[in-house]
Amino acid sequence: MSSSKQVLVETSRSTYPIHVGRSLGGQLAETLKGLLEKGSRIAAITDSNVRAAQSAWFDELDENVAVLTVPAGETSKNLSCLGEVLDFLAANKLDRGGVVLAIGGGVVGDLAGFAAASYLRGVRFIQIPTTLLAMVDSSVGGKTGINISAGKNLVGAFHQPIAVFSDIEMLKTMPPREFASGMAEIIKHGMLQDAALFDLLEANSILGPEDSRLEEVVERNCDIKAGVVNADEKETAATGGRALLNLGHTFGHAVENVAGYGEYLHGEAIGIGLVAAAILSERLGFISVGDVERIRKVVSAHRLPTRLNEPLSVEALLKAMSLDKKVKAGVIRFVIMKRIGRAETIESADMDLIREIWRECGAS
Ligand SMILES: NC(=O)c1ccc[n+]([C@@H]2O[C@H](COP(=O)([O-])OP(=O)(O)OC[C@H]3O[C@@H](n4cnc5c(N)ncnc54)[C@H](O)[C@@H]3O)[C@@H](O)[C@H]2O)c1
Repeated sequence: MSSSKQVLVETSRSTYPIHVGRSLGGQLAETLKGLLEKGSRIAAITDSNVRAAQSAWFDELDENVAVLTVPAGETSKNLSCLGEVLDFLAANKLDRGGVVLAIGGGVVGDLAGFAAASYLRGVRFIQIPTTLLAMVDSSVGGKTGINISAGKNLVGAFHQPIAVFSDIEMLKTMPPREFASGMAEIIKHGMLQDAALFDLLEANSILGPEDSRLEEVVERNCDIKAGVVNADEKETAATGGRALLNLGHTFGHAVENVAGYGEYLHGEAIGIGLVAAAILSERLGFISVGDVERIRKVVSAHRLPTRLNEPLSVEALLKAMSLDKKVKAGVIRFVIMKRIGRAETIESADMDLIREIWRECGAS
């Protein structure tokens, strides 16, 4: 039996629902039936791992839905794969009334979302996130895009879906390391805006795909991200706003960059970044040493690293931070916690302090 909860996302142009529940195939089928009755063509984009792991789910899709499977992995978020998706939409004669389904993790969501944003200057799309990260983060907020050789996510568009279906059952086939990686964003949301969520993560045994609390946790996280995004849809706020979602990311992106992409999963680098941001917040006099310890324990309990596996060069990490695309006019923007559950952005910080924090996190 399926049941779902709903989070409503209000954007400047539209309001759309995020359905969170288990076994949502029937509910999605009803929605698609309505679209097909109106004569809309529907095309689904997925990746090879999702297609194999969720074959029963694809068997349930209406036979009129055309499915394109791209290779799994970040490398599919590129120009040539985008071209393949656009050609597929054209070959299936999607018109302005057409709908694109993005069935996969953040890679498929970003790629298919950007294809939907650019094909015929924009057609509707529905996100069906299949990873924890995609459910609590990438499917909410309307950012879509691909990577180019100059950097990650450098080409893209804001394009909101018409609906999101987060079927928790789909998480059961996720590789455990990928599931843990998605937990980093959930811990981040607790640290930046929801002390009660942080307490829940601290007090209970580690959350897994089978856990009955997961639905509530995913719904709550969608709510948090949607709230931040609604208030600052295109990341234009001078302080705070959408930039708060970068808590731990200024440090984490540097780890990914210096270690080489692929060495750490995104959430693993963010685990280290969250601890580094906590130490910074403590050194600036906002949170206590005890709070830093609590954060370290929650990150580690959810099978994420709290320090580097192998030492990386402090200077290389600082350089990577200064080149991050969020840096404006040479000023690095850090997100710090005033307390657990409340974050703020600050412009720059003493670089000797940042060096010290990197060393505490295992850099040399
Ligand atoms: N648009 C945004 O706002 C936003 C936010 C955060 C991250 N992102 C992007 O998201 C991407 C990362 O997303 P991700 O972590 O979901 O990675 P991913 O899409 O690569 O998925 C991770 C792995 O899990 C597999 N997988 C997915 N669902 C599965 C399932 N149910 N069962 C078995 N295997 C499954 C995938 O094939 C892949 O191998 C990055 O490209 C990042 O830039 C975008």
